[in-house]
Amino acid sequence: MELIISPDPASASRRAAALIAALVREKPDAVLGLATGSTPLRLYQELIRMHRAEGLDFSKVRTFNLDEYLGLGPEHPASYRHFMRTNFFDHIGVDPTQTHIPSGLVNGHVVPAECARYEELIRSAGGIDLQILGIGSDGHIGFNEPGSSLASRTRIKTLTKRTREDNARFFSSPDDVPHHVLTMGIGTIMESRTVLLLAFGESKASAIAGAVEGPITSSNPASILQMHQETKFLVDEGAASKLERSDYYRWVYDNKPAWQRVEGDR
Ligand code: F6R
Repeated sequence: MELIISPDPASASRRAAALIAALVREKPDAVLGLATGSTPLRLYQELIRMHRAEGLDFSKVRTFNLDEYLGLGPEHPASYRHFMRTNFFDHIGVDPTQTHIPSGLVNGHVVPAECARYEELIRSAGGIDLQILGIGSDGHIGFNEPGSSLASRTRIKTLTKRTREDNARFFSSPDDVPHHVLTMGIGTIMESRTVLLLAFGESKASAIAGAVEGPITSSNPASILQMHQETKFLVDEGAASKLERSDYYRWVYDNKPAWQRVEGDR
């Protein structure tokens, strides 16, 4: 696990983009796990820029998103399918048939079947090479709210009141935020070969301090990443502001051997 503190969200996002670009250049059919929300937007903009200006080729990449709201179809402006299309997929030349998001239009007993189908799709793609994560102010990753089993797989979850409030900005009215979602489980996320968790702003500072320096607990689902060997937390000063060992994390980064650096990762 590595903690990298950047002066601002833009430089943290450039670091994340450099790491993803290095993977895609080395493995053109890489399997990327993707997140939605405000946090990865700058990262997606930087990858779009690299595609246009540097020819970064996404044509063979395969993608799996973390989650989707139940009840929202792909054309709904707040659905995560719509979010991904407009903010990323439409601009990078990825094959749309290779972009996967759980269906928000399943109901009743079809829900477990959709979750099992999603898990099987990830497995048959060979697993996720690199998973992008944001973090909720309550420590959730994907939509695995506090109390989620740390071994969970893709399934239906009920959003907390706080997450519905946090996400109300994407909907015309707070009451429109669905109560239920399908989300990759924590066990699913933990099988990704590499994890990049991005967090920006003071509203994420407690969740980050708990995840990185607190005990491993389902009360802060992101804390399970302490058990993942290839996880980088890419945070800005605000999100780092409650870390007790921030001087040490900066010291580690500044003294990294040259061979461990990724081009552009500065
Ligand atoms: C999104 C997701 C969530 C968000 C988290 C932070 O696909 O799975 O875990 O990453 O809610 O959201 P933002 O970035 O909007 O603060």
